[in-house]
Amino acid sequence: KPQIFSGVQPTGNLHLGNYLGALRKFVALQEQMDCIYCVVDLHSITAQLVHDDLKSQTRSITAAYLASGIDPVKHIVFNQSAVPQHAELAWIFNCVARIGWMNRMTQFKDKAGKDRENASLGLLAYPSLMAADILVYRATHVPVGDDQKQHLELTRDIAMKFNLDFAKKIKEIGKGVDITVGDQPVHAFFPMVEPLIEGPAPRVMSLKDGSKKMSKSDPSDLSRINLTDDAETVARKIRKAKTDPDALPSEVDGLKGRPEADNLVGIFAALSDRTKADVLTEYGGQQFSQFKPALAELAVNVLSPVNAEMRRLIDDPAHIDAVLKDGSERAGAIAEKTMKDVHEIVGLL
Ligand code: TYM
Repeated sequence: KPQIFSGVQPTGNLHLGNYLGALRKFVALQEQMDCIYCVVDLHSITAQLVHDDLKSQTRSITAAYLASGIDPVKHIVFNQSAVPQHAELAWIFNCVARIGWMNRMTQFKDKAGKDRENASLGLLAYPSLMAADILVYRATHVPVGDDQKQHLELTRDIAMKFNLDFAKKIKEIGKGVDITVGDQPVHAFFPMVEPLIEGPAPRVMSLKDGSKKMSKSDPSDLSRINLTDDAETVARKIRKAKTDPDALPSEVDGLKGRPEADNLVGIFAALSDRTKADVLTEYGGQQFSQFKPALAELAVNVLSPVNAEMRRLIDDPAHIDAVLKDGSERAGAIAEKTMKDVHEIVGLL
């Protein structure tokens, strides 16, 4: 049975990219599958060690999960540091993965900048912890935005190397399953995870520059829509979004070479659970002066209730903490079982 895992870092405000690339997909998936959604607080100390408000940020991401519609009773919502098996498995994966693999990660190169020797060791090993997050539950499917694709490929590489390195032991303890990867038969303890990236907005771009990803770290607040923005701010940011002078095309092909138009149509489609083609059938031929108000209205209609519910939940930290505690206990019980087998496989006494 497919098992879903995903996580969001508690750093900075969540924005529309996080909502469409992650949260909205999380909510949709919980209808059909068992889901584990994590606030990855240990990841957030890799780039910046000291935070004034890590606890409140962790609660605020949890509030965003719940406000978006994730059900913490049917599914599991918890914070990473409360289940120590993540860090434990990450250590083992640090010994499985190769330094060269980590050095090739574009997120590491971006975040470490020019002074790579001076980046934290945690920032380099970040993908090992991410692989551990997923594989400690032996999760099979991971909904994420397009920017996490490379990390998930590395997760597969780590799983594959672990499976091959310990093939004999995995057979011996009888905990593996026979799978084929490409055309290679493998007796696998850890599954090959599948990223779930598709949809009309896998990579939401900046509202000010269609060639840049919408991101928490962009100095211009006009470049992104924050989940905490009020209705007026959301509408104003859409009004001020960069566009080109032409009317919208009536077919998806016509969006080629028009990154800002493509982005706004993708956002419209994702917010209304439609395809871009479908949106263009309705709005093709219209000017941005007509399309933008429709997009603003849609965005406000979808985001306002999330925003209001987030505010309500943030005022009740005791409730949030209770949700995280319950989730951590249930997650911990699964993680503990996996680690028992891992100890056996690796030969830890
Ligand atoms: P993070 O916290 O940077 O982002 C959370 C989620 O939001 C997606 N996202 C976007 N999607 C579309 N357009 C954008 N502009 C955009 N910006 C962000 C991200 O792809 C992500 O899905 N490493 C992860 C957290 C993590 C994780 C995991 C995810 C840790 N362990 C295990 C999945 C499974 C991260 O930093 O996401």
